[in-house]
Amino acid sequence: MRASIIVHGGAWDIPSALHKAHEEGMARALKTGQKKLAETDDAHRACLAVLTVLENEPVFDAGTGSFLNAGGEVEMDAGIMKGEDLSAGAVAALKNIRNPILVAEAVRVHTQHVLLAGQGAYDFAREQGFKRVETEALLTGREKERYRILKERGKVRIKSFFEKKPSDTVGAVVMDSHGRMTAGTTTGGTPHKMAGRVGDVPVPGSGFYADNRYGAVSVTGWGEGILRAGLAMRAMRALESGAGAAEAAGEALRFLEERIKGEAGIIVLDARGRAGFDFNTPYMAVGYATVDNMEYATVLGEGTSGSK
Ligand code: GLY
Repeated sequence: MRASIIVHGGAWDIPSALHKAHEEGMARALKTGQKKLAETDDAHRACLAVLTVLENEPVFDAGTGSFLNAGGEVEMDAGIMKGEDLSAGAVAALKNIRNPILVAEAVRVHTQHVLLAGQGAYDFAREQGFKRVETEALLTGREKERYRILKERGKVRIKSFFEKKPSDTVGAVVMDSHGRMTAGTTTGGTPHKMAGRVGDVPVPGSGFYADNRYGAVSVTGWGEGILRAGLAMRAMRALESGAGAAEAAGEALRFLEERIKGEAGIIVLDARGRAGFDFNTPYMAVGYATVDNMEYATVLGEGTSGSK
């Protein structure tokens, strides 16, 4: 089996001034993943390493760089799933921790639960030895300015951000040479969301899913629509029915469009290691590498879908 990694850095109207930073951020994450795969040949460890790099890249809405909610706080969601045993861990509305994906992994490994939220997730993270960081340390000037403008405007229609503005949830799907797969997704959610709002990202079957028998999926886009569609599971069902990776992403997106008028992007690796993606937003940031070859890390325009 060809060990490989596919990543996304969000799917929306990514301004052209930010394309290069998206491409470079994804390339750095892919390089880290390649190194980890070469050292360990372990899809799960490589996926965690890739997602940690993406959370640390300030251009993306995840970890450092997250959007502020309406109360001026950063609340982050993240989830990870192992396709070997379908074990999953997730956190929702987590504050003051630099890398939510690592707390999600700790939930998977050290608790009997799948998803911890809010103060409980924070307390658990601290018990596990994660350092507290102040909100300021997770903020970029870009997001402080966006918050200032939205606060002045008062009432904000969240869905309009997904039609027009950037949203840079990140995700990764990794397969190792044994055919083992892991998928994960992590985000700061949506700009000016209500305090306590949780989207698709920490919910297995919505924001991510992995099953070694069929493939694995990570999703980005308008979380309320993705949740109602169970979007990752729709792509998984298509894989189970024999669809290829890009085809499965396309089938799931068609359902989202037709039934919910939703917008999203999806990355997929199928059980044969073929990569694919599709999106129905103006742009999507997507990258792909095998363990020994960097294939692409690029921002693509509307109407593009792909497979490898
Ligand atoms: N898909 C990211 C969110 O809606 O929170």
